[in-house]
Amino acid sequence: MSDIKWLPDGQKMFDKLMSAVPEAMRDAIRPKLEQMLAGKVAGQPVSADLVKKFVSEDLPEPQRSALMAAIGMKPAGGAAKPAAPAATATWQGKAQDMFERMLKEVPDMMREVFRGKLMQIALQKAAGGAVTEDHILSIVKEIVPDPFRTTILKAFATMGDIDVTKVEEIIEKNPGGQETLITIMHAVQDMFGYVPRQALIIISQKKNVFMSTLYRLATSYAAFRLDKPAANVITVCNGTCCQVKGGGKIVKAIEAKLAGNGAKATLEKVRCLGCCDVSPAVMINGEVLGAAAAQAKLAEILG
Ligand code: FES
Repeated sequence: MSDIKWLPDGQKMFDKLMSAVPEAMRDAIRPKLEQMLAGKVAGQPVSADLVKKFVSEDLPEPQRSALMAAIGMKPAGGAAKPAAPAATATWQGKAQDMFERMLKEVPDMMREVFRGKLMQIALQKAAGGAVTEDHILSIVKEIVPDPFRTTILKAFATMGDIDVTKVEEIIEKNPGGQETLITIMHAVQDMFGYVPRQALIIISQKKNVFMSTLYRLATSYAAFRLDKPAANVITVCNGTCCQVKGGGKIVKAIEAKLAGNGAKATLEKVRCLGCCDVSPAVMINGEVLGAAAAQAKLAEILG
């Protein structure tokens, strides 16, 4: 409970402000706003003008513009202007779908104001390039309060083509903190053949870790694959023993074949497959083969 002393018009204006906040968030937002307002007014009775001053001076964007519009305040600097048309962006991947999904959580009356402001932020993050999925993700994490943040992140996770309940099951089987991340990511890769972005979003939410931490882990270990592999996965050993026995030539031959035909197979290189006795060793779809057997299988796959 705040100890704000309300003047009648101040209470009325604050209630109007709260009615513009989406219902699902109201209970969580009200005490925060009251606390901020109490700090600003420092014991003096709160009038409607003080509430307006608080909104225009103390709230962050894009909430400030949206709430100013909702309580009938004109934007700073003069006459009310219609919402600026959203600047256009170039999008990468599912970024545009994610942007629109994020806006769905904004009430109709505030959506266009949010669209313009959030687009500005996205374009700033893109710094002249395309707006990526990571830019939209960081906007949600930095700006959107809970419970909307959780709802939106969950929606993002289901926008791909994986069964997210499988990821949730893996996480449930591995309770604990950050020490479980590698195990979880291995299990996810075993399940899907790679570690999909949607899985990382869920792990990030459930384990309360930054996406950047997960990407750092995934890219530090050669075992993790972040892109969906082709139908065939060819793993060639780059270890000394295999190199000495012609592993390099095999790699070059496969790369030449894949140059015009990359959709048929994904080529990976590892330090040692642990079977130096058959070097130069090649693993095709999980089966380790010596040079002759590998050539035959490669011919079958790549033509
Ligand atoms: S060096 Fe190639 S399998 Fe060991």
